[in-house]
Amino acid sequence: MKFSILTLFPEIIDAYASASIMGRACKQGVIEVKAINFRDFTTDPHRKVDDSPFGGGSGMVLTCQPLESAFESLLPLQQPARVLMTTPTGRRFDHAFALELSEAQQLVIFCGHYEGFDERIKGLIPQIEEVSIGDYVLTGGELPALSMMDAITRLLPGAVQKFTSVQADSFYDGLLDHPHYTRPAEYKGLKVPDVLLSGNHAAIQQWRKAQSEERTRRLRPDLLS
Ligand code: ADE
Repeated sequence: MKFSILTLFPEIIDAYASASIMGRACKQGVIEVKAINFRDFTTDPHRKVDDSPFGGGSGMVLTCQPLESAFESLLPLQQPARVLMTTPTGRRFDHAFALELSEAQQLVIFCGHYEGFDERIKGLIPQIEEVSIGDYVLTGGELPALSMMDAITRLLPGAVQKFTSVQADSFYDGLLDHPHYTRPAEYKGLKVPDVLLSGNHAAIQQWRKAQSEERTRRLRPDLLS
């Protein structure tokens, strides 16, 4: 999977993508991450990439030209490709959307900033899909882009050493994950449930499934409906 991230802050993307599981996935060739500063594509003599909104109001709007030119520099995209734009008004990113995007060969993500994008970018790049990571507003699209890249990367074969741990995690089977415990078996009087120390794998599986179901019913009943 090739991630092409169009951003004003490529160093944020590079720092996160070179550490931990994403860093290892890059080294192993499971993913490739290219952060591109779209300021490098502006034709403005002062390297401006934004301007004040027509009609007045606060904040600045990202202009079309640098975004379109940066996108054109990526063509042709490796197919199947998806082109995303981070915005709080977009389709909500979730596990099902992550699975869908993990089928792509190349993902291009436009990171918004300031008040967002000039609306006409959607006409210039018709395949653009607007994506939100939740009902709150961030100062930029880098965290949304990284959240999506991270969630998608762990779904790719070879990114996580044990894929069974990905499958057992929350949302994969529509349920929240069960609780986890590790050594010591007792800490400050707090004990690990006996069944986990029993060595009875069938009983452990049954307990975990029941815990997942109970947690989901209690904390996220919306997932069951
Ligand atoms: N940009 C600012 N807030 C955002 C959000 N919640 N999701 C995606 N992009 C954003």
